[in-house]
Amino acid sequence: MVSGNALLQAKFTRVAPHVIDTILLLAAVALTLQINQYPLTSSWLTVKVIALVVYILLGVIALKRGKTRAQRVIAFALALLTFAFIISVALLRQPLGFLHYFLA
Ligand code: HEM
Repeated sequence: MVSGNALLQAKFTRVAPHVIDTILLLAAVALTLQINQYPLTSSWLTVKVIALVVYILLGVIALKRGKTRAQRVIAFALALLTFAFIISVALLRQPLGFLHYFLA
């Protein structure tokens, strides 16, 4: 990663994210069932899932694939922006999220 910390090699650090992500995804699926709104039928949820994929890809570049430090730092900043976008889509139940204020 950016700082090259040795803790990144620890078993806990490598396993925990997968456990956490699985719990989060299961929680998301449970929420869709509770409110009867689903990706592909509800546009804000479709955008959320697409944005989640973009966020994961940016994370891969930031933490692994980025060839230079600059590439990794830019990918990290874009990942944070994407995360904020996902939260704004969730809070506003609006596919444009915060972009709605700039585009509408
Ligand atoms: C990084 C990923 C995600 C973040 C940060 C996130 C964040 C949030 C937040 C903050 C809320 C609460 C909105 C409110 O209180 O009004 C929410 C609601 C919700 N999220 Fe997510 N979410 C993510 C991914 C997903 C995914 C992938 C799905 C579905 C496949 C999903 C499904 C839902 C649903 C259905 C609700 C509405 C719950 C309700 O109205 O009771 N989320 N999300």
